[in-house]
Amino acid sequence: MKRILVIHGPNLNLLGEREPGVYGTDTFDSINCEIVSLAEKKGLHCEVFQSNHEGEIIDRLHAARKDFDGVILNAGAYTHYSSAIRDAIAAIRIPVIEVHLSNIHARDEFRHTSVIAPVCVGQIAGFGKHSYFLAVEAMKEMFDDAR
Ligand code: DQA
Repeated sequence: MKRILVIHGPNLNLLGEREPGVYGTDTFDSINCEIVSLAEKKGLHCEVFQSNHEGEIIDRLHAARKDFDGVILNAGAYTHYSSAIRDAIAAIRIPVIEVHLSNIHARDEFRHTSVIAPVCVGQIAGFGKHSYFLAVEAMKEMFDDAR
């Protein structure tokens, strides 16, 4: 069974109460339950990790290269400036899909840049919690194509 890891970056633990007009009212826990159950329906093992700390996200990416076949990453604000997270993604051989709830390209100027996009297999942004679900589907399709 293929194994995927969902990594949520800073402030995403507050989903449900954080800027609901932008990120929706579904809670962090309920979104994670939906992600895991969709992944299981697709025959994927799925685990979830969240951290507000750049180094912890990097450590988790490094560890994932041994235990997982792919990563779905919402790096939060680190997306826009963390060269260290970009380098961690480039350093591991497993595919990483970049995800955002909001359409970062339609928001503040500083959010238009993703320094991680060039080292991810693709970016899904703007579909709320469905961005994660679409990433699960994309990961499944990639695994199937590679068989
Ligand atoms: C986000 C977009 C980022 O710009 C922001 O800093 C976040 C959430 C999103 O999911 O839309 O924390 O990654």
